[in-house]
Amino acid sequence: MLSFNQIALRRGTELLFEDVNFTIHKGRKAGLIGATGAGKTSLFKMIIGELDSDHGEIEIPNNLRMAHLEQEVQGTDDTALNYVLGGDSEWSEIQAKIDEADKTGNYDNIGQLHERMDAIDGYTAKTRAQQLLAGLGFEQDEFDKTLQEFSGGWRIRLNLARTLMTPSELLLLDEPTNHLDLDTILWLVNWIKHYQGSMLLISHDREFLDETVDNIAYLHHKTIELFPGNYTQFEIIKAARLAEQQSNFVKQQREVKHMQDFVRRFRAKATKARQAQSRIKALERMELIAPAHIDSPFHFRIPQADKTSDPLLTLAHANLGYDSVVIGNVKLNLHPGDRIGLLGHNGAGKSTLVKSLCREIELLSGERHEGANLVLGYSRNTKLMTLIWMPQASP
Ligand SMILES: Nc1ncnc2c1ncn2[C@@H]1O[C@H](COP(=O)(O)OP(=O)(O)O)[C@@H](O)[C@H]1O
Ligand SMILES: [Mg+2]
Repeated sequence: MLSFNQIALRRGTELLFEDVNFTIHKGRKAGLIGATGAGKTSLFKMIIGELDSDHGEIEIPNNLRMAHLEQEVQGTDDTALNYVLGGDSEWSEIQAKIDEADKTGNYDNIGQLHERMDAIDGYTAKTRAQQLLAGLGFEQDEFDKTLQEFSGGWRIRLNLARTLMTPSELLLLDEPTNHLDLDTILWLVNWIKHYQGSMLLISHDREFLDETVDNIAYLHHKTIELFPGNYTQFEIIKAARLAEQQSNFVKQQREVKHMQDFVRRFRAKATKARQAQSRIKALERMELIAPAHIDSPFHFRIPQADKTSDPLLTLAHANLGYDSVVIGNVKLNLHPGDRIGLLGHNGAGKSTLVKSLCREIELLSGERHEGANLVLGYSRNTKLMTLIWMPQASP
């Protein structure tokens, strides 16, 4: 279905990967993982023909239909629904011809057009596009809004809908869950499970990978290795390999030490000099095993508290929001050791609650009490928002 034969790729002077040999068979779904900047997106660009390999060839069957997720959308005055329908280029072409016939009154080929439309299941296209939009979190009254009325994150969702609308035997998805909320991610998992074609998926979300792929392509040490199984199975294999490498390393180091001791003791002794020489040679020839190490040298520690307050933070009868109330009558007690996942649909007020807890915004009304030993840590980014109550020793 998709074969990489001795593929190498450079960008500028940097070698991204080489000796890449693997095949994605029909119907298989592989997760492509690797560090940021390792070249995952670049590999996709090679597959869709935007980049040329520096060595080797990617074998793709003729006429294979591919769908891939565009990273950008232009804010045109196309409607959301039309944009999604445009993902099926054959449908668009036939529909345009039917519209043209209606306009000009020239119905010479109309029978043939309707036959083609029927053959590609074109009469259900609109319904299918609407289902994709609904699944990805769009409200009915947004279907006819123009692209420029949507924010960046929602445009990415429109791209995803358009990609899923595209009839394909191979689907390439580059970090599709980045702008999705939990409900939509679950919807996408389900969609992928029902997708009949092959898929290559770049994702950093291990749970998403576990649910959707049956192979892991691991971009590491400037090459790619294919592992059977999902992400959890991959981690087990990787851990076993590291353990084996470490045990081989220890064993070899012991052997090396023995040989060095022998050489040291007997080198000067006439009767053993030959044996010592052969050990010196063996030591020189030996291919040394590197000690196993975990990739990420990242360590952190949250300082321990001597004193803590309970509750740490309280909201009572609190109205939260900006000009108007977003969440009303909030009652919340946070205790030491709590770990809370905050769920809610887009616009429900998750960020508003976190901002209120952190006093980034003031309460509209109600009460907020801090424990005497509360220290707040607050980190926000586009993908996740965490709030750490970091109790510290009082001075
Ligand atoms: N348009 C570009 N021109 C030149 N180099 C690029 C370009 N885009 C990305 N790169 C470089 O290619 C490398 C791989 O990038 P990328 O394929 O985006 O990695 P990944 O998707 O794994 O994070 C990086 O070192 C990046 O700086
Ligand atoms: Mg990338």
